[in-house]
Amino acid sequence: MQGSDERLVPMRVQRFLARAGVASRRGSEALMTAGRVRVNGEVVREMGSKVDPQKDVVTVDGSVVRLNQKPCYLMLNKPDGYLTTMSDPYGRPCVASLVPTRRYPGLFPVGRLDQDTTGLLLFTTNGDVAQRLLHPSRHVNKHYVALVDGTPTERELQRLRRGIMLDDGPAAPAQVEVIGPGESGGDTSVVGITLHEGRKHQVKRMLAAIGHKVLRLHRDSFGPLTLRDCKAGSWRLLDEDEVRNIEEAAAWKE
Ligand code: URA
Repeated sequence: MQGSDERLVPMRVQRFLARAGVASRRGSEALMTAGRVRVNGEVVREMGSKVDPQKDVVTVDGSVVRLNQKPCYLMLNKPDGYLTTMSDPYGRPCVASLVPTRRYPGLFPVGRLDQDTTGLLLFTTNGDVAQRLLHPSRHVNKHYVALVDGTPTERELQRLRRGIMLDDGPAAPAQVEVIGPGESGGDTSVVGITLHEGRKHQVKRMLAAIGHKVLRLHRDSFGPLTLRDCKAGSWRLLDEDEVRNIEEAAAWKE
């Protein structure tokens, strides 16, 4: 019965946006503060403002937001040279220009890749799932392929497998292996490394700590997701199985 549907009673705008999967509550407040949210055509910045989902029209950046709207999940195969941010005050290239932000308002990246790192970057409108996926307790594995200077020895790799000390504290044990030699001609090698943490420049810092500078870095998986046929610079929506798997990876486990 409609009248008893808890989703349809008047509620605060930020709650409405969070429930619609636009962003987390805090993210929704930031959208409001930035003047990107309108109710019946009027910009709403006041945090106490309410919305009646049965009759008010809420828009973010001009796109209508509905409560039963399913959250969007997509992956970008990030190319080199793009910042992981939705806007840059200096006009540098950012990932926002590579994903359909008008079709899916509230889309944002789950975590970060460095400007020169390529590969799988997940985007969603579901702030809740994003927050959980990034929480250290979720232990979401990410697999990276790194081209490094020289070839790490087994002894050096063991240090990463045991958990190496970095300047911001110990890194959790990583799965790591030398996949093979780098491009012909130079003294380089290709290393595969799996981490569940996501600290700043973590892979580069871990490999530097055993004496091997990272020359190129690519992420080819994030939790249960792999790029499959997603080409560099393009994006694709997750299919139903992938959505189920990523939502499961984000679920709280006892
Ligand atoms: N580790 C890094 O050093 N850089 C990235 O972009 C991701 C993980």
